[in-house]
Amino acid sequence: MSRSSLKRALGLAGCSLLLFAAGPSLAADPIVIKFSHVVANDTPKGQGAQMLQQLVEERLGDRVKIEVYPNSSLYDDTKGLNALLTGDVQLLAPSMAKLGQYSKSMQLYDLPFLFDDMQAVSRFEQTPEATKLLESMEGHGILGLAYWHNGMRQPTANTKMQEPRDMRGLKLRVEPSNVLADQVKALRAIPRKMAFGEVYQGMQTGVIDGQAGNTWSNIQTQKWPEVQQYVTEANLGVLSYVLITNDSFWKGLPAEVRTELNDIIAEVTESVNDNADRLNNEARQAIADSGSTTITTLSADQLADWREATDSVIDKYRDEIGDDLIRAAQQSNQGSTD
Ligand code: LMR
Repeated sequence: MSRSSLKRALGLAGCSLLLFAAGPSLAADPIVIKFSHVVANDTPKGQGAQMLQQLVEERLGDRVKIEVYPNSSLYDDTKGLNALLTGDVQLLAPSMAKLGQYSKSMQLYDLPFLFDDMQAVSRFEQTPEATKLLESMEGHGILGLAYWHNGMRQPTANTKMQEPRDMRGLKLRVEPSNVLADQVKALRAIPRKMAFGEVYQGMQTGVIDGQAGNTWSNIQTQKWPEVQQYVTEANLGVLSYVLITNDSFWKGLPAEVRTELNDIIAEVTESVNDNADRLNNEARQAIADSGSTTITTLSADQLADWREATDSVIDKYRDEIGDDLIRAAQQSNQGSTD
C-alpha cells in the first residue's frame, strides 16, 4: 500500500471511529424549536414562552429543546412571520393584528369594541367558529395551535383623550392591520404602522404622538409612560395572540413528541389565559402608582360616543371577516359584567 493510500485508509478509519463514538449522541441530538417574540418576559406571552420552555425541558428534555428569543432579539413580528415560513423559526405568538395577511377572518379581533372583556374572548374561543378560525391560515402553511390572551387595548398620548374629538390629528402607532388603521381614521387621527420595538423611540423623537391601543402590560414593560403623559382606559379592542407553527414542520415531528407537545401547550395556554388579567391589572396599578402618567377613565356616555365614532369600521369589514363570525363573537358578550 502506498503511503498516501495508507494515510487515506487511516483517515477513513479514524472518521468511522469518530462517527461511531459520536453516533449515540448524534442520534440523541434534540429537535430545536426556536420561539421568537417581541414582548418582555414579564408579560402574559413572555411568561407563557418561558413556561413552555421549562415544561418541555422537564418532560421532553432529551428529545426537544425550546429556545426563547424575547424582546424582538431575533426578529420583529414581520420578519418572524417570514422566518416561520422559511423554517428559520418554529414558534411565534403574534397578535391577530399581524395575521390579516394570511386570513381575512383573523381581522375579527381588531374590530373596535367587539368584545366587552377577556371573559367574553374566552367564551368565544370555546365555540366551533373559533376552532375554525384557528385553522384558517393552513392554506399558507401556518398552523394555529392555541389562543393566548393578553388584554384590552388602551391608547396613550401626550394629550388627554376623553372624547373621540380629542384624538383628532394625532399621529398614532398601529400594528400592521388595516382594521386598526381604519379605526384610527374613524377617530380623525393619523395611523402610522410601526414595529413594536420602535414605538418608544418614535414617541421620544416625536415621529408619533402616541399609540392607538395596547395592553397595560405592554405599555408598562415597554416603558411608554416615560414618554407618554396620558393613557385612556377605553378598552377599545382586544390584543390577543395565536400560537402558530409551520404546518409541515409540526406534521413532520415524531407523533409521540407532537402529542406530548400538544399536551404541554394545552397546560401552558390555560396558565397564560388565567394569568393575563392579573398581569394587566398589576401593570395598570404600577402605572397609576408611578404618578407620571394620568389614567383617564370614560363615563358611560363618553364610551357610547367612542363606540359610535368607530362603529362604521365593523360594517366596512363585515363581508371580509364574515357576518357569522362577528355574530358569534358578539354573542359571547352575554354574561359579561358590563
Ligand atoms: C404590538 O405590536 O403592539 C403587539 O402585537 C406586541 C405583542 O406581541 O404584544
